[in-house]
Amino acid sequence: MSILFEPVRLGELQLANRIVMAPMTRSRAGSDGVPGSDMVEYYRQRASAGLIVAEGTAPSASGLGYCRTPAIYSAEQIAGWRRVTDAVHARGGRIVLQLMHVGRAASHLNKPAGAATVAPSAIRARTQLFTDSQGLVDTDVPEALSLEGIAAVIDDYRQAALNAREAGFDGVELHCTSGYLPMQFMASGSNQRTDAYGGSAQHRVRFAMEVLQAMAGAIGAGRVGVRQCPGNPYNDIDDQAPAETAAALCEAVAPLGLAYLHIMRSPQADLDAFALARTHSPQALILNDGFDGASARAALEAGEGAAVSFGRHFIANPDLVERLRNDRPLAGFDRKTLYTAGAKGYSDYPNWQASLEVSP
Ligand SMILES: Cc1cc2nc3c(=O)[nH]c(=O)nc-3n(C[C@H](O)[C@H](O)[C@H](O)COP(=O)(O)O)c2cc1C
Repeated sequence: MSILFEPVRLGELQLANRIVMAPMTRSRAGSDGVPGSDMVEYYRQRASAGLIVAEGTAPSASGLGYCRTPAIYSAEQIAGWRRVTDAVHARGGRIVLQLMHVGRAASHLNKPAGAATVAPSAIRARTQLFTDSQGLVDTDVPEALSLEGIAAVIDDYRQAALNAREAGFDGVELHCTSGYLPMQFMASGSNQRTDAYGGSAQHRVRFAMEVLQAMAGAIGAGRVGVRQCPGNPYNDIDDQAPAETAAALCEAVAPLGLAYLHIMRSPQADLDAFALARTHSPQALILNDGFDGASARAALEAGEGAAVSFGRHFIANPDLVERLRNDRPLAGFDRKTLYTAGAKGYSDYPNWQASLEVSP
């Protein structure tokens, strides 16, 4: 049997196989950040993954910034997510929630009234994002967080981790890449602070480390993971030394004993993110980006990591695990419906058997 289908334990998380579903924002939540029935069905269909990392979810109203993305700070949001986790657990799956505070990568048009757009420094991300009301708009100019503001955001993450457990999640993953708030602190371009949260790499990773510490203190380190992609420029991120910064975060969180590090390949050709993670992080690794069944198997057999995550292949292959196990061809997905509302192009992709029945 391929190593892909062997069980593995990541902290307190016991996975039936080593195929992880990577977090993917799909913009199917209600405008109030509440997951609805389409999301219940979508995740239920993908429950044969060894672990689902559910999409980036805001820990607070301020952490929202995109259209129809989910959150986990209100009782209604917790109840909505409870339906998702119940459906996944009923099929024997495991599911953690990715906590994503977008920081300055936000438009107030996608937030509840009065929710601030915050960042380490008052520097706008030179990028645009989509709003249902006005189409593409510039991101907001953020407010620089005060020290009290930083403490409050860390507390929002702590409470969100508790809320995720109340909603039935097996754990949480901190989104530390793609130019969102933790990475805005980590990168020298977006973090111009002169206090204990800015300056050296050790200071710039402090925010992410303190968030992870707070979440681990609340729900147990064995149920907390962290995601990194060293050198990712997405959302106007510019860092003077991305490898050094990523290594500093690995080393700062090493004593916490987290469940895993979810590590993506770096877009920088000269930066081997997997090797960096193996050198600087004692945590089990979930490897990501561009894998297919054969390359995932080869990476695990070579001892590069404990598990591999797949993003895009899970979009149109709800039964990806079974398809890989039986060497079935993989279906392609429709880009046009990645972020549109409703079930179309989301929870209506058939599994292998059903796809044979609908084909002429
Ligand atoms: C539609 C879409 C949405 C995504 N949303 C997120 C997200 O919310 N959080 C995150 O960390 N990565 C996100 N990603 C990145 C994926 O988790 C993954 O890293 C990427 O697709 C590369 O893996 P793959 O080659 O297996 O698709 C997203 C990717 C796609 C295609």
